[in-house]
Amino acid sequence: MARTTVLGIDSSTQSTKALLVDAATGEVLGARRAPHPAGTEVDPRAWLTALDDAAGPFLGEAAAVAVGGQQHGMVALDEHDAVVRAALLWNDTRSAPQARQLVEEMGGPAACAEELGSVLVASMTSTKLRWMAEHEPEHAARTHRVLLPHDYLSRHLNAEKTSFFTDRGDASGTGYYSTRTGSWDHGLLTRALGHDAELPDLAPAPGAAMGATTGGAVLAAGTGDNMAAALGLGLAPGDVSLSIGTSGVAAMVSETRTADPTGLVTGFADATGRYLPMATTLNAARILEFAARVLGVDHAGLSALALAARPGANGVTLLPYLDGERTPDRPEARGTLHGMSSATTREDIARACVEGLLCSLADGLDALERTTATPARRVLLIGGGAQSEAVRRLAPAVLGRPVLVPTPGEYVALGAARQAAWALTGDDEPPAWALPGVQEHTADPTPQVLEAYRELQVRTAGWR
Ligand code: XUL
Repeated sequence: MARTTVLGIDSSTQSTKALLVDAATGEVLGARRAPHPAGTEVDPRAWLTALDDAAGPFLGEAAAVAVGGQQHGMVALDEHDAVVRAALLWNDTRSAPQARQLVEEMGGPAACAEELGSVLVASMTSTKLRWMAEHEPEHAARTHRVLLPHDYLSRHLNAEKTSFFTDRGDASGTGYYSTRTGSWDHGLLTRALGHDAELPDLAPAPGAAMGATTGGAVLAAGTGDNMAAALGLGLAPGDVSLSIGTSGVAAMVSETRTADPTGLVTGFADATGRYLPMATTLNAARILEFAARVLGVDHAGLSALALAARPGANGVTLLPYLDGERTPDRPEARGTLHGMSSATTREDIARACVEGLLCSLADGLDALERTTATPARRVLLIGGGAQSEAVRRLAPAVLGRPVLVPTPGEYVALGAARQAAWALTGDDEPPAWALPGVQEHTADPTPQVLEAYRELQVRTAGWR
């Protein structure tokens, strides 16, 4: 019997990745990718070209398709559904003042979290709309419809060009979707943009079929990249994934909604009908890139240097808020390398950089466990940064617990493929695919590393 295949697409910050997958087993049959333009402001039409390049050759073979996309990006369309201006991405921090204004207008951080599940920061879509309304009123006035990146791409794939849809997972990162009511809040959209606008239809169920390509493949709702990764990894309630990519993400699948008034944990919805509380940093893989560049080594060289130093890097600590930070909310911050002496070595600096990255993830994990009042069941380490040997070996030491590292893979695209396969079955649960093999890493805990990091946070940032 011919096998049924599905297509999962990951439109992330840096590139589009497409996986052709066996719908019954989850086996990956083909993979392609295409790059995106750099920058925190990108013409969304560039993602369409990348999607056509990466996914085009697979489209004719797939019975169903879904798109996982970078969260929060502001795609503004006019009344003819043409792009009004370049999309502002999740890592564009210009709307930090507007985030503060909106939180205040909603009655403060606790009230904001209670309604949205999250305290607004510059990453979220509504703050970008408010920025546009203030700085480019002519663009705001022309904005007739607002989409997220993945919604825009789903519409590109959909034969029916007047149909727009999304899912509650990605919607929950906009700032105008309430996780309390489970619906759009046009009042909040109006407050941000200055007038009301069209929003995509919310999928009625996580495995719903929402449209069809011109070739007749079923289109699932798609979701945000972090929600798709959780689906691709098959995370169960209490499982935590730590992802080291362009962003650093600590995410836990939760049966209950969260509303953290401190803003450290964003209480998003997931792609299965549950929730995905997350702590997200702006600085993650770039910390390793920064360290490799200033030390003049490649990634393997950086790992070797870091592993040659002692835990705690001879007293050197990195606070890694290189390009401003979001968790904690310090959009203007810069990195701090503290505790150097004339005896400090390149090995110490490499070690401090890897430990600083892991400490910021440890902060995220800690915030998740406190907010959900749930100890993590398992901790999985994924993303490009997990390919670093030093990261894999030092993570259990800094986090003080075993860490599972799945086989490297495109888990966002795999999660999108799993959602596509789900839309074919129409079942209540996603198809039971064989989950990725995981390797367990253990190490003697080094609590002094996190203690030194937290001391530096207080000293430098006045945080905690
Ligand atoms: C999550 C976030 C990032 C992007 C990266 O809130 O902003 O993880 O989704 O694509």
